[in-house]
Amino acid sequence: MIYLDNAATSFPKPEPVYEALDKFARTTLANPGRSGHRMALASERVLDDARHALNQFFKGESPERWVFTLNCTDALNMAIKGTVEAGDHVVTTDLEHNSISRPLRALEKAGVITLTRVASDNGYINPESIRAALTPKTKLVAMTHAANVLGTVQPIETIAPIVREAGVLLLIDAAQSAGVWPIDLKTTPIDFLAFPGHKALYGPTGTGALYVGPRAKPRAWREGGTGGDSKTETQPEIYPYFLEGGTPNVLGVAGLLAGIRWVVERGPENLRQHEVKLLQRVVDWAETSESWSVAGLWDPNRHVGALSLVVPDGLTAQDVSSILDTSFDIAVRPGLHCSPYAHQRLNTFPDGTLRLSPGPFSTDDHITAFINALSEISAGVL
Ligand SMILES: Cc1ncc(COP(=O)(O)O)c(C=O)c1O
Repeated sequence: MIYLDNAATSFPKPEPVYEALDKFARTTLANPGRSGHRMALASERVLDDARHALNQFFKGESPERWVFTLNCTDALNMAIKGTVEAGDHVVTTDLEHNSISRPLRALEKAGVITLTRVASDNGYINPESIRAALTPKTKLVAMTHAANVLGTVQPIETIAPIVREAGVLLLIDAAQSAGVWPIDLKTTPIDFLAFPGHKALYGPTGTGALYVGPRAKPRAWREGGTGGDSKTETQPEIYPYFLEGGTPNVLGVAGLLAGIRWVVERGPENLRQHEVKLLQRVVDWAETSESWSVAGLWDPNRHVGALSLVVPDGLTAQDVSSILDTSFDIAVRPGLHCSPYAHQRLNTFPDGTLRLSPGPFSTDDHITAFINALSEISAGVL
């Protein structure tokens, strides 16, 4: 299978990730933070090492501020629902994945918050539109770093100081950027950084993390199950355990740690350049094609490795994806990509687009096969 669906989850993982998972599962998979024997301590050590690795990679305040989650959705819900209160105003954008847009819309529908959805232009958010949306009641700005439909990278280095200056909390969804775009928490004032471990950090599914900066004071999420401090009647307030109830996915984190180390060794910018170079070929081909076009503005300097193609009339994204899968052995993702407002803005709602997202192991031959397949499909039908 030619796998061009890395924006959903990365595949294959780098070899050291498979090795770490296998070794950890066979030798160390005890319950961390519970029993105090050597295996439990070794297991806890992997969680600590991964927190240190994340803290160094993103330059956070301290390792304890990194909370492991089930995925990015879990991290985003933890930040949003743990922060907003009745009467708060929240600013978001029309580029969001429904992991942000759904919890916010549900809170809005329930009358808990008021919500402003800032409009994008060709896949990009203008920082001044964020500034204009802030009100004295704004508690939180919740937005994506790289749009998952389009791969466009938002100027968070400019937006973050605007939000901080207004005394508002900033939640960044780094699902599509963590691992391929540098994020420096020392110079970019972000209060919550949420991301999955299973995309461009190359951990397995079931991993994710939330960075909680010192200004953020979310309420407890899952309560109980912290192992230590059993005398306390309510959730111990010490981080990261305050937000990490229950036995953590320490096996997954062992894989994630190997993934982070692999990314650090390769360098995020090198990984991004490889993917963008492959996508450039698709962009060049689409520009000469009579039937296919690229959604949003293509700027290789402000893009991660995901690209959406507008499907020609007479075909649907779903049909093309099915044909690619069954007749050409190529995996991509059709449809709305969990982001209906982005497609409304792009006029590609409700059918959506065809998204391809190469990864570090994708090759020129894969892209050639993809382009030839699309040409063949459209020539056969149109
Ligand atoms: C921008 C964005 N946010 C959130 C998510 C949700 O991530 P997860 O599936 O890890 O919950 C995704 C997944 O594709 C995404 O692309």
